[in-house]
Amino acid sequence: MSEARIIDGRALAAKLREGVAARVETLKSKHGLTPGLAVVIVGENPASQIYIRNKARMTTESGMNSFEHRLLATTTQDELLGLVEKLNDDSAVHGILVQLPLPDQIDEAAVMEAINPEKDVDGFHLVNVGLLATGGDGLVPCTPLGCLLMLRAEVDELKGKRALIVGRSNIVGKPMAQLLLREHCTVTIAHSRTRDLAAECRNADILVAAVGVAHLIKGDWIKPGAVVIDVGQNVVPAPGKGDGKTQLIGDVEFEAAIKTAGAITPVPGGVGPMTIACLLKNTVSAACRQAGINEHSL
Ligand code: GUN
Repeated sequence: MSEARIIDGRALAAKLREGVAARVETLKSKHGLTPGLAVVIVGENPASQIYIRNKARMTTESGMNSFEHRLLATTTQDELLGLVEKLNDDSAVHGILVQLPLPDQIDEAAVMEAINPEKDVDGFHLVNVGLLATGGDGLVPCTPLGCLLMLRAEVDELKGKRALIVGRSNIVGKPMAQLLLREHCTVTIAHSRTRDLAAECRNADILVAAVGVAHLIKGDWIKPGAVVIDVGQNVVPAPGKGDGKTQLIGDVEFEAAIKTAGAITPVPGGVGPMTIACLLKNTVSAACRQAGINEHSL
């Protein structure tokens, strides 16, 4: 049997960003509108620092304005809510992203609910969660949206496929399930209390792994020909390298899974780049919506 196709998230994301940049160009030249994305980070979490640097760079590379707000780890909830209010009122800001996790003294849910839902490019506000669950047209969380675009590029017809999502987070698992339901998949969500995860996996035409446990999903659990999307970003010691060197690996045992799967995303180079590209896409959608411009006319 031949090995799985490797889904090139970097190439797909580059194509998506090209489309975003073209729409931004049209917004500027035809409508005098430059979309703006504000990213807020509280504290010094090193992984978050890397993420937001990449987000800011790609935002400006696609022609949009990037506004960065770096706040001290000791910032109070009221101070952060004050900044969110200012960004809500700022007409140059079309998208607001508050990087998670936030320090313990801050109530994350309260901050998410303070963001104007029309500027909520993360899709975490309850209004957007509700719109996704009821078939409405809101802003969709970036990582599951990126996974869906990869699946659409890879699978001729999603309708009727058995999709298993491993992980039930609000950021990935649950919105992914909603998106695949919308595509008429038969959706199952598995989690840490699922009784026979191997059996659930062996039944899945589409498997989205989003648990954050390195190599939890074994190669011989994959149904032959299945399409596997690995959202895991696990930092583990690099074997044989010593010196505290680390590597990034997914939730799926990649080397074994490629022998059975029809197609699979690598880690790194799979879902990660698509998440940022979808953030840019959401920022353009938000800017169009706020300006009363039909995005599809661009
Ligand atoms: N931290 C890790 N992933 C995300 C994300 O998608 N959005 C936000 N705001 N913070 C995150």
